[in-house]
Amino acid sequence: MPDARSDTAFSARPAPVRAGGELFTEERSAEVVAASFTGTPDPRLRQVLGSLVHHLHAFVKDVELTEDEWGVAIDFLTRTGQMCSDVRQEFILLSDVLGVSMLVETINHRTGGTSTESTVLGPFHMVESPRRELGDDIALDGKGTPCLVSGQVTGPDGEPLAGAVVDVWQTNEDGFYDVQQPGIQPAGNLRGLFTADGDGRFWFRSVVPRYYPIPDDGPVGQLLAATGRHPNRPAHLHFIASAAGYRPVTTHVFVADSPYLDSDAVFGVKESLVRDVPEVDDPDRSADVGLPNPFRTLTFDLALLPEDSPEVSARPAAQPADGQPTVVRGAPS
Ligand SMILES: [Fe+2]
Repeated sequence: MPDARSDTAFSARPAPVRAGGELFTEERSAEVVAASFTGTPDPRLRQVLGSLVHHLHAFVKDVELTEDEWGVAIDFLTRTGQMCSDVRQEFILLSDVLGVSMLVETINHRTGGTSTESTVLGPFHMVESPRRELGDDIALDGKGTPCLVSGQVTGPDGEPLAGAVVDVWQTNEDGFYDVQQPGIQPAGNLRGLFTADGDGRFWFRSVVPRYYPIPDDGPVGQLLAATGRHPNRPAHLHFIASAAGYRPVTTHVFVADSPYLDSDAVFGVKESLVRDVPEVDDPDRSADVGLPNPFRTLTFDLALLPEDSPEVSARPAAQPADGQPTVVRGAPS
């Protein structure tokens, strides 16, 4: 009796019926896999998955990924997920250090140069910042280099936005947010929710923030170490400015003389968001603002777009992938 499991038995079977499906090959892998998603009812999901498959397969082919490397990648992603908790989001951190967070932020908040540029929210915002009065000192522990922060919230044509709301938060002089140092910093230290005056102006007392490292004790920190990258972000104050009838902007202002301004671990720096923080040595002025002499000043004006302004959808001109000029072979140089 023939063995039903023999090759002969298998080869005698009719070929399986494929409903027009193409079998997987190295050359056509992306097309074959992408085709499996063409029945996705949601058109946006279909588009995203199709593009993802094409780019992912192109990447694997480009580097000719080995099985060991594939295993390392799976292990890395597994550990990244296992590092996540209610207070730690390692996947967002991974997105940050790969520049994806900033790219998504930038694509979705194009300004066309008409309003204040945005940057990442970051993980240290409080849903309800403590309400403060204009002129308040948000450095509740009185430590650090005193700094007067002021600015004006306007529309794109400079029209003042009376009563605009300005939410701010920053590190102390040691580079920590209050939520990172419970019991060391007072709750709500270096945070404030301000309402601008009738001219859209705001001002408060604080201290100069310091650069700080993103959490680097997990898989993302290992990635940075393995690639010779540091985990630091340059000194900055976070802002969310909002006003009725206008689109809120989530951004930072960066301290111009901070280390790491040109190598932010999460790529959050935009040239338009960098400000000098000059020292003022003037006893009369220090008495006026209620800060010890000398003190430093940081001025940051914010321009918001009306809610009904048209979306800026034009993509910036594409650059060559490696930043080098395109070389046309055989062309005269
Ligand atoms: Fe921050």
